[in-house]
Amino acid sequence: MRSHYCGDLSINHLNQEVIVCGWVNRRRDHGGVIFIDLRDREGIVQLVFDPQHSPESFTLADQVRSEYVLQVKGQIRPRPKGTENLDLATGQIEVWGQDLKILNASETPPFPVDEKMEVGEETRLRYRYIDLRRPENLQRLRTRSLIVQQLRNFLDSQGFIDIDTPILTKSTPEGARDFLVPSRTHPGEFFALPQSPQLFKQLLMVAGIDRYYQVAHCFRDEDLRADRQPEFTQLDIETSFIHEDTLMDLMEQMITKLFATVLNTQLTTPFTRMAYTEALNQFGSDKPDLRIPLKLIDIGDLMQEVEFKVFSEPAQNPQSRVAVLRLPGGATLSRKEIDDYTKFTATYGAKGLAYIKVINCSQGTEGLQSPILKFIPNEVVEEILNRTQAVDGDILFFGADKSYIVNEALGALRVKLGHDHGLVEQGWRPLWVVDFPMFEWDEKENRWHALHHPFTSPKEEDLPLLEQNPAACRSRAYDLVLNGTEVGGGSMRIFQSKTQAQVFQLLGINDVEVQEKFGFLLNALKYGCPPHGGIAFGLDRLAMLMTRSNSIREVIAFPKTQTASCPLTEAPGSVSESQLRELKIKIINQPSLVK
Ligand code: AMO
Ligand code: AMP
Repeated sequence: MRSHYCGDLSINHLNQEVIVCGWVNRRRDHGGVIFIDLRDREGIVQLVFDPQHSPESFTLADQVRSEYVLQVKGQIRPRPKGTENLDLATGQIEVWGQDLKILNASETPPFPVDEKMEVGEETRLRYRYIDLRRPENLQRLRTRSLIVQQLRNFLDSQGFIDIDTPILTKSTPEGARDFLVPSRTHPGEFFALPQSPQLFKQLLMVAGIDRYYQVAHCFRDEDLRADRQPEFTQLDIETSFIHEDTLMDLMEQMITKLFATVLNTQLTTPFTRMAYTEALNQFGSDKPDLRIPLKLIDIGDLMQEVEFKVFSEPAQNPQSRVAVLRLPGGATLSRKEIDDYTKFTATYGAKGLAYIKVINCSQGTEGLQSPILKFIPNEVVEEILNRTQAVDGDILFFGADKSYIVNEALGALRVKLGHDHGLVEQGWRPLWVVDFPMFEWDEKENRWHALHHPFTSPKEEDLPLLEQNPAACRSRAYDLVLNGTEVGGGSMRIFQSKTQAQVFQLLGINDVEVQEKFGFLLNALKYGCPPHGGIAFGLDRLAMLMTRSNSIREVIAFPKTQTASCPLTEAPGSVSESQLRELKIKIINQPSLVK
């Protein structure tokens, strides 16, 4: 139907006869001559119709409107001097239209494709097929495709085998709720959609596959954020007979190569490695954005004896923390700005945000401004200034509470201050976070939770701690963090059924439950399971960062909204009575249970 893509035409095609197909981006009537910008996925070319040259096509060209689909035959000629458009790849030429065919008409689109007009996300998603005609949106999907291709190339070259695992399966715990699918053939029973292919990839290692990968769809029914979708894609990887350091090196090579080929950017290697506790201590987060040069500093030891209970109580409690964050040049912050930051930290549970403005150090405490000076002895204040290396013009923010509240509040404040005050450095700062604890204590449920997942191996030297002190037991897990986003996570796995059973027991999963949920895995571990481990990358998150998008929804062709629905198909939707009957399912007609 066509000889060239619109966007591929150039001065090299001068005088050639071409056939192009595409959508009307814009039509202009210039005193008897009609110009049409025709758009396809490669770009835009200008068509010209004049009544002398082709009267029939001219008449048709007069009828077309935005987003009509055309096929046009014509000759490439140079644009008249002075009318070239150097912003456009095809800007030196135009197609002198001879035959025009309207392949299809279009209603007026709900928003223009060719203008930068802001459109609400609900409308964009309802008409996603039009939204994706916008070149910047299409470009994101193309970059994503290139990313997947490069990752596949690398893994293929390293001897990894691409294997699909089931979508209709049993629950794989990754910390979220399952999406369930009722079984018609087994009434009252349900499949779970995989939260990840975790168990199957481990079984593939037992099977001797040695190196596996998959571009895998995963499903997690959890609260959504800018970097979370209920349905997302992982680059899922598993290997046998390999130490985590070797695997991490290999993954570093893969990511470095990816950035070099797709973005023409050289990442600094080796990537920084940081222990989980250090990340929390210094940045209040296990996914710190290292582009922001601010750090949390502990001052609990200085606050043990002060009168100010807000500080002394957490200072004396091993589960709590008193920390300070210095913002260089922050003494100029207004009362209102400080109040706004206080409200911001309150959303993370902070009960206040004490501060000290350093106006003039040479005047001692006289040269400071703060609502808390009266509660804290001078020598303690001096030591705080010393420890934080505060200088005139700085502000110090304080957090005192349960450690997790201080970490979340000051950790988030650190990132916000970095962005608000232009402190975010350019470029990419990849970071491996390592030495995660195996477990965290869930106060609400009064039991241990696996920090990664229950199949993660403890560190060899921490094995005795499984019994003696689970809180101190570290795992062989690692996360890859890029500019403050967790883009990947994995671990070496437990490959001996005895240790696996011990971990299930610690997590409070009883024998009956273990057999029912994971019996097949424990069985497999008994039949010659090799030492193995792997990792999964969030492909959407990688693509989001690499295309500098604000949300993973931008790099997913048909994403769900923040409330996990699809405005285009209107999924999820109700089903017919007969379908429910077949599945032996009854909707309880109780107002609190139906929408
Ligand atoms: P994990 O749960 O850390 O590990 O997931 C791996 C990576 O997947 C991405 N990710 C998500 N992306 C978008 N939306 C979501 N809801 C979402 N949840 C996770 C993140 C994350 O780093 N089976 C293990 C991997 C392993 O141990 O090998 C797993 O799934 O980028
Ligand atoms: P108050 O005595 O409650 O008025 O608090 C004095 C100062 O300490 C105010 O600036 C509060 O914002 C701050 N503050 C109160 N609680 C905390 C806390 N848990 N962490 C940090 N600062 C706090």
